[in-house]
Amino acid sequence: MKDRAPHEDKEPHPLLRLVDRQRIPEHVAIIMDGNGRWATSRGLPRIEGHKAGIEAVRRAVSAASDLGVKNLTLYAFSMENWKRPKMEVQALFSLLQRFLSSEADSIVENRIRFRTIGRIEDLPRKNQQLIRKLEEKTRDGEWTLTLALSYGGRTEIADACDALVKEALARGKSPRITAEDVARHLYAPALPDPDLLIRTSGEHRISNFFLWQIAYTEMVILDVLWPDFGEQHFFEAVLDYQRRERRYGGVPAAKGASGPGKTRYAT
Ligand code: FPP
Repeated sequence: MKDRAPHEDKEPHPLLRLVDRQRIPEHVAIIMDGNGRWATSRGLPRIEGHKAGIEAVRRAVSAASDLGVKNLTLYAFSMENWKRPKMEVQALFSLLQRFLSSEADSIVENRIRFRTIGRIEDLPRKNQQLIRKLEEKTRDGEWTLTLALSYGGRTEIADACDALVKEALARGKSPRITAEDVARHLYAPALPDPDLLIRTSGEHRISNFFLWQIAYTEMVILDVLWPDFGEQHFFEAVLDYQRRERRYGGVPAAKGASGPGKTRYAT
């Protein structure tokens, strides 16, 4: 992360001038993919790709800050990633541990509110402690960086249903569940649905990420491998997003739509 407040001491990237400041996506989510291929193509162990991926995380956070994006969510470790070799999993969590310790001050200085989604209780204890500490320390931050860790979209929906059933049983009523009820029981109910989902490495897959939340999200697939992701890729994705018309299943506004609009369940 950069060691300065946003918008200071640096020439703005030329692409930034093309961005419409009135139409900045409120929530950008990123599936960071391609660390392994980046390393393998250089004859390096996969973990070197993850190390280089951390630099790309810093660039993504910096770009989001320059744009004034209010919410950035990074898919850092899926539930399915537990199936990877033990050594790679351990290395990923020791990188995360280092990241949480070394970036804490910079996260505070950059007025970031740090959050996580996923089954954090699955993580090594030290990671859990650092996460809770950083969440507490940054609770008054102005914009939100969320890391999805031990996260699975299907499990999130199942967990929400489980909570709803428990609530209904406690009240002695049979549940009649609405979409709004489910949304209120997701891991981060106050987080708006992503406006823009970026996936790197050219793969056209969702990989169990934000299954509920991406109903009307605009997707941008980039061919770049995650460790090569730079601020310019973020700006290009936002420019692509701004060229699109979002209709949410309705008709273009000019043709007299009565305003389908974003679905907002969050409190
Ligand atoms: C996907 O690449 C990346 C991951 C599974 C982990 C993402 C982790 C990082 C970017 C580094 C750690 C992050 C933080 C926030 C400390 P892959 O390994 O699936 O690549 P491949 O598809 O080329 O094999």
